[in-house]
Amino acid sequence: MNILVLGGTGFISGALVRRLQAQGHRVTIVTRGRAPVALSDSSPEVLTADRSNIPALKQAIGRRTFDVVYDIIAYLPDESRSAVDLFRGRTGRFIHCSTISVYMVSDRVQCPVTEDQDGLPLMQFWDRNPFGMQYGIDKRACEQVLWDAHHDTLFPVSMLRPTFVSGPADPTRRDWFWIERVLDGHPLLVPGSGDCAFQQVFVEDVAAAFAALLDFPVSVGRAYNIAGEEILSLNEYLRILGELTERSVELVGVPQSTFDKLDFSSHPHGDVFPFNTRRTAVFSLDRIKQDLGFHSTPVRQWMATTIDWWRKQGTRSLGYDRRAKEIGLIAELTHRK
Ligand SMILES: NC(=O)c1ccc[n+]([C@@H]2O[C@H](COP(=O)([O-])OP(=O)(O)OC[C@H]3O[C@@H](n4cnc5c(N)ncnc54)[C@H](OP(=O)(O)O)[C@@H]3O)[C@@H](O)[C@H]2O)c1
Repeated sequence: MNILVLGGTGFISGALVRRLQAQGHRVTIVTRGRAPVALSDSSPEVLTADRSNIPALKQAIGRRTFDVVYDIIAYLPDESRSAVDLFRGRTGRFIHCSTISVYMVSDRVQCPVTEDQDGLPLMQFWDRNPFGMQYGIDKRACEQVLWDAHHDTLFPVSMLRPTFVSGPADPTRRDWFWIERVLDGHPLLVPGSGDCAFQQVFVEDVAAAFAALLDFPVSVGRAYNIAGEEILSLNEYLRILGELTERSVELVGVPQSTFDKLDFSSHPHGDVFPFNTRRTAVFSLDRIKQDLGFHSTPVRQWMATTIDWWRKQGTRSLGYDRRAKEIGLIAELTHRK
């Protein structure tokens, strides 16, 4: 097939492009040209434009038509709107990368969260929402633009809603935050009880599911949750990291309200400590299993590869320069007990 990917050299979109090419598709990508394109015999055709600059995007696309367009990088409704305007009548499918954050901006969701819970009323604005409050609101609005186009003009939309996407080279470095701390052998400061369940998803599973949408026409007009089948709490996740790195892991919980006052626990965009979901966040996989035959890679398998990758990078994780403060607080807390 002749496929366009908006994005194409980053974490999720790069994995998707590699997979589509391995399956024999002809792939064109649109990027701003900041991230390097991996050069190989099967390099995609590269169009250079900032997708938020609509005239530039139009000019880059020219008169091309596609069997499928993947939009991996729409964060704002105007971006989805301009994509609908540009690709209406010029693509057989339009596949959008959404997120489970579209649910987590409501406090009415019921776990396991099914795809039909995407329109529940918004909760009061919560700037420490670990799923991103404004981000979730904006991604909901992107979806709405696409569903309107689908229902009003038969624009052929499908979408995936991933949970926390993980694997080597994850630009958010969420796993590396914990791996680096587990590796140093000191106890770990755990916000709250560490007992809230959450799900990650391996980036290659996301890429495979995006590609699988092409094989199943039933997916037109549908959204799918995508997550690893293993449901872990933060405490269980940390014990798995200990097992894989052969470190003993001592977990020291701090009441959430105390933790939130610590100067190193947050940054302007939210929580520093990843996977502290503050409430259970488990997503139904019934639909994606039934329609696409989805199965996830076991967490121990992809996490071992991810740990190896991060260990070779020699980078620091978020807030590691203040690790001594975490360790000092842990000493204080355990001494008090
Ligand atoms: N990470 C998660 O845990 C998670 C979870 C759920 C959903 N998602 C969704 O995943 C998507 C992002 O995935 P990702 O972070 O891995 O990024 P990505 O898909 O790899 O996107 C980055 C790519 O897009 C290009 N790009 C970025 N801004 C651009 C622009 N304005 N115009 C043209 N090209 C642009 C970058 O190249 P240049 O820099 O060279 O332009 C790069 O090729 C989003 O839709 C997000 O909502 C992520």
